[in-house]
Amino acid sequence: MTQVTTTPFDGQKPGTSGLRKKVIQFQEAHYLENFVQAIFNAVKGIKGSTLVVGGDGRFYNKTAIQLILKMAAANGVKHVIVGQNGLFSTPAVSNVIRKRSALGGIILSASHNPGGPKGDFGIKFNSANGGPAAESVTDVIFNQTKTICQYYVLEAGDVDLSVLGDTMIGDMCVEVIDPVADYAAMTQDLFDFDKIKALFQGGFTMCFDAMNAITGPYATAILEGMLGAPKGTVINGEPLADFGGLHPDPNPVYAKSLFDLMLGNNAPDFGAASDGDGDRNIVLGRGAYVAPSDSLALLTANAHLAPGYANGLTGVARSMPTSRAVDRVAEALSIECFETPTGWKFFGNLLDDGRISLCGEESAGTGSDHIREKDGLWAVLLWLNILAERRESVADILTQHWQTYGRNFYSRHDYEAVDTSAAMDVMAKLEARFDSLVGTTYQTETITSADQFMYSDPIDGSVAKNQGIRIGFASGSRFVLRVSGTGTEGATLRLYLESFEPATSRHGMDTQDALKAIIMIADEITDLKSITGRDAPSVIS
Ligand code: G1P
Ligand code: ZN
Repeated sequence: MTQVTTTPFDGQKPGTSGLRKKVIQFQEAHYLENFVQAIFNAVKGIKGSTLVVGGDGRFYNKTAIQLILKMAAANGVKHVIVGQNGLFSTPAVSNVIRKRSALGGIILSASHNPGGPKGDFGIKFNSANGGPAAESVTDVIFNQTKTICQYYVLEAGDVDLSVLGDTMIGDMCVEVIDPVADYAAMTQDLFDFDKIKALFQGGFTMCFDAMNAITGPYATAILEGMLGAPKGTVINGEPLADFGGLHPDPNPVYAKSLFDLMLGNNAPDFGAASDGDGDRNIVLGRGAYVAPSDSLALLTANAHLAPGYANGLTGVARSMPTSRAVDRVAEALSIECFETPTGWKFFGNLLDDGRISLCGEESAGTGSDHIREKDGLWAVLLWLNILAERRESVADILTQHWQTYGRNFYSRHDYEAVDTSAAMDVMAKLEARFDSLVGTTYQTETITSADQFMYSDPIDGSVAKNQGIRIGFASGSRFVLRVSGTGTEGATLRLYLESFEPATSRHGMDTQDALKAIIMIADEITDLKSITGRDAPSVIS
């Protein structure tokens, strides 16, 4: 074993998803080593433990895994379970951690950020419940990165990750497993595969765009293999180190070809896509895009149609900026609905404690108590199960949902890579105006509330402050402004806009038109455009 002397580095405070940086940063001497050692120093019980390791296959995945294995062996880890060829989707890691009672897992991914040598890379630690480590753990990791003086690496050759089975390095066993098998078995327990098979047999058509990222092997095995969807249902199904140049973020901009297909003349019945590491999803029907916030509401209203949720839901949760469409369903079902800060980790305690069964975020993440990560393919399968039961089109299901509950028009405007101090300035100036804003009327909208969102965890009482600014209007409309925790360049400001429309006659409106008034008021109140020097958002979703 080699002990390498190193110097503390300015480890970025782990945001919502661990450490995420440009690949070139990770290639700097000692950079990844220091972060991995910081994890091993921070997490209790590493010696003699079992860990799960894998990533979405992006550039640097294999290099990072070989290093992690040698460092794990040098730090006394007993057993590491790795996906074949270093591959694991994020939800599959969560599942294996739980199934194999591991101490935790290390996931290599930068989620929906671009890959390749010039793209992004990332690393995060998940705990024994299968979910992203709690802030109490990530804080210790961060402190370690600031004080670290040495790290440990075993001098050993690389492990052949293409071959299934066990290999010893030093005293540690590396077990290479099929990354799909456990995950596929888990979904079989939750959903009615026979019903979904019958749906496909009846001629139901679908396009799943894996965006050359990790869900390809999972979707191909489950949809085409187990559920009998025709070959070719999954497109871009091969995980590539640079995602084939695609930006694996399933939004209307980066998944444009899927949107064009689904909104065009030859659309199949159902379309879906996932992101780089497989935890996000979007779904579309023929001529109908289901906004993620609406998808969460719809899944909540229909989950009981799938065997895994047949007994009903205990409660639901959504991240604060997610639209309040799901709140209306929860009210109708008389179940609790929690509003948590952005980031999946905030759902962890509620799921562990059985307070919620389903949860989701506006950023195309939906999941349930089956694991502790959001799960892209799971959401697609739940949709398929619902479609197999209801035998109606996605568009009809969506329209009926709005008729029953009203429609929450919703959109997110991102201002990416803005100057960090300008972004801080926008936030500070808006916060300073809270008192004067409340009671002010702009056109027909009167501001009734303005606050910085603060969350007290109902289970452990931990408090998360400064989670984004909420401006509420008397009409039930609102906008939210927050700084992204996952950007890798400057700062990303996210403006979330929402208006509630009870009148069925107006449900067919274009979303941006329906939100026009709120968009104009948000522009005026935040001064965002003049402070950042931007005249339009970089991405509208
Ligand atoms: C984004 C999403 C958030 C998600 C996170 C990790 O974080 O908005 O919902 O949990 O990625 O996938 P943000 O960049 O907004 O901080
Ligand atoms: Zn992701």
